[in-house]
Amino acid sequence: MVPTMKIVSVNVGLPRTVQWKGKAVSTGIFKAPLSGRIHLRSLNFDGDRQADLSVHGGPDKAAYVYASEYYAYWRRELPDMVLPWGIFGENLTTEGLNEDALQIGDRFRIGSAEVAVTQPRLPCFKLGLRFGRDDMLKRFLASGRLGFYFRVVAEGEIAAGDEVLLIERAKDSLAVSEITRLYARDKDDLEGLQRMVRVAALPDDWRDFFKEQIQRAGAHVRQPTAQRPAWTGFRPFILRAKLRESEDVSSFHLVPEDGQPLPPYLPGQFLTVRLAVPGVERPVVRSYSLSDAAQSDHYRLTIRRIGSRTGDPQVKAGLASTHFHDRLAVGGQIEAKAPAGIFTIDVRQQDQPVVLIGGGIGITPLLGMLIGIAAAQAPREAWLLYGVRDDRDHIMRTQLETIARTHANVRLRVFYSRPARAMDGPDIQVGHIDLDAMKRLLPSNAYDFYVCGPPAMMDSVTRDLQAWGVPTDRVHTEAFGPATVKQAVRGPTAQPDCGFDVTFERSGVTAQWSRCESPLLELAEEHSVAIDFGCRAGSCGTCVTRLLSGSVRYLHQPNAPLEAGEILPCIAVPVEPLSLDA
Ligand SMILES: Cc1cc2nc3c(=O)[nH]c(=O)nc-3n(C[C@H](O)[C@H](O)[C@H](O)COP(=O)(O)OP(=O)(O)OC[C@H]3O[C@@H](n4cnc5c(N)ncnc54)[C@H](O)[C@@H]3O)c2cc1C
Ligand code: FES
Repeated sequence: MVPTMKIVSVNVGLPRTVQWKGKAVSTGIFKAPLSGRIHLRSLNFDGDRQADLSVHGGPDKAAYVYASEYYAYWRRELPDMVLPWGIFGENLTTEGLNEDALQIGDRFRIGSAEVAVTQPRLPCFKLGLRFGRDDMLKRFLASGRLGFYFRVVAEGEIAAGDEVLLIERAKDSLAVSEITRLYARDKDDLEGLQRMVRVAALPDDWRDFFKEQIQRAGAHVRQPTAQRPAWTGFRPFILRAKLRESEDVSSFHLVPEDGQPLPPYLPGQFLTVRLAVPGVERPVVRSYSLSDAAQSDHYRLTIRRIGSRTGDPQVKAGLASTHFHDRLAVGGQIEAKAPAGIFTIDVRQQDQPVVLIGGGIGITPLLGMLIGIAAAQAPREAWLLYGVRDDRDHIMRTQLETIARTHANVRLRVFYSRPARAMDGPDIQVGHIDLDAMKRLLPSNAYDFYVCGPPAMMDSVTRDLQAWGVPTDRVHTEAFGPATVKQAVRGPTAQPDCGFDVTFERSGVTAQWSRCESPLLELAEEHSVAIDFGCRAGSCGTCVTRLLSGSVRYLHQPNAPLEAGEILPCIAVPVEPLSLDA
C-alpha cells in the first residue's frame, strides 16, 4: 500500500533581527507551528515572510518543505538539541513525501491549494545562526537532507493533517535532487546538464545557470588540457610602432627585447601586460587581445583610451590605456606574459561557418580571427557583424573592406547605432546588431557565433541567439570588463542563498561572504588581504590562488589556464565554506 502523504505541521514566521557573530542580522528563518487553516498565497503563507527577498522567496520559493522523517536523523546527530517542527525554516513539515522520488514540476493538491515542486533548498549561514552552531551549514549540506520548494499554482488554505495528493506527474522532467547533483558535484556532466535545461518546469535562474555551466563544460571538452604558455612569467617587450586608428584607438606593435622570434598564437588570444605607471605603487596588469594574425616578429595590440572623449568628468582616465596612449613612446618598454585565452577559433576547421560579432573595441579578438580565416584561403563562410556608435569609432575600415572585397567567403556588415552624419558604404547600416538584423542577413542559425563587446551588447546578443534557438555550445563569448570596475554576481543570483565563512589562511583572516553581489577578490580586499590582480575578469591569471578546502563557482567561464586546486578569486564565489592560501 502506498503510504499516505500528509502535512504534519504548517510553520510561519516574520523576519526578526538577531545578533550573530557581533553583527545584527535580519532573518526570516524562525518559524513556529500554527494551528488552523492558513492561507497560502503566491509568494508565501499569511503571517510568513522572508527577510532578504533578493535571495530568499519569490514565486518559485513560496513554501519551503521539509520531511518529518529527517528529524529522526537530526535527533541522532544533535542529541542535545530540542528540535520543534519548523526549526529548519520550513513552512510545511511533511510525512510520506519521498523527496528523492519527486520530479521538478510535479503538482499536488493540499487542502484547497495547488502547488508544484520547483527546486531543492541550498541553505545559507542563517541555518547556523538558527541552530547556534557554525558547523550546521556544512552538516546540513553533507546530510543530503535538504528539502525543497513549492510554487503556488492555485492559492488556498492548508492545515496540519491535510493529505498531500499528487494530481499531475511532470512530463519529461528530472528528480529535484538532480539539480543539487549537477550544481554541487557533477558540474561537467554535459549530457545531464543538457537534459536539465530542457526541463520545462525548471525555474529560469537555474536554467540560466545550467546554460552557463554547459558553456563552461563544453569549453573544457573542446580544450581538454590547458595550452602550455610559450614562456613563463613576464617577458620584456619594446614598442616598435604606434599607429592611430581613430580619435581614441591606437595600435601598438611590440617586439621582444631579446630579439628572438615570437611563438605563434591562436586567433582570439590575448596578451597580459605589466606596466610601471608613474604615481601608482603596484605594477598595473591588464589584458589586451592580439588584433592581427600571428607574425613571427611582432605582436599587435589595439587599445581604446578610456576616459578621453566621453566629456564625462565622472569617468576617470583608465590607468593602463592612458599609459599606452599618452606615455609609452616608441622605444619604451613593457612586459608581457605569453599569449593565452580560450576564446579562439580553429582556422583549419573549414566546414563550420562562423559569425563574428564585435561591439566597439570588442572587435579586436574577432579581427584576429577574421584575418586568420582569410589567410587560411579556404571557402569557409565567415560573417563579421561589427557594431559601433558612428564612423568615428569604425576602426580598421580599410583592412576590413579589403578582406571582404578579396575573399568571396567573407561578408562584412557594420552597424552604426548613432550615426553623426550620412553613411557612405554598402556594408554600413543604421541600428543595433539584434535578432531582426541577424535573421535578415543570415540564411539560418546554423553557425558558430563568436561575440565580444560591451556588457549590454553581449547580454542582448546572447539572449537573441538563445531566442533564435542557437545551441549554447555554439555561442562563444569573451568579456573585456573594465579592469577596476566591480563585477556584479550574475547567473543564479538567488541561488545559492548567501553566507559562507571564507578563511584566508596565510593572512589569518576569516571573513563571511554574505553579500551575494561580489566575487571573492572583493571580500579579500575588504579585509586587507592582498591578492594581486590584473583584469578582474578571469582572463590574465594574475589573481590565481590555491584553494585549500571547499569549492567555488564562477560568474563566467575562466579564460586563464588553471592547475588542479587553483581558483581565480576575481570571478569566483563560494558554494560552501572555504579556505584559501592567501
Ligand atoms: C581578455 C581581455 C581582452 C581585452 N582586450 C582589449 C583590447 O583589445 N583593447 C582594449 O582597449 N581593451 C581590451 N581589454 C580591456 C583592458 O584590459 C582594460 O580593462 C581597459 O583598457 C581598461 O583599463 P585601464 O587601466 O585603462 O582602465 P582602469 O584604470 O581599469 O579603469 C577603467 C574604467 O573604469 C573606471 N573605474 C575605475 N574604478 C572604478 C570604480 N571603482 N567604479 C566605477 N568606475 C571605475 C575608470 O574611470 C575607467 O573609466 C581587454 C580585457 C580583457 C579581459
Ligand atoms: S585578475 Fe585576471 S584572472 Fe583574476
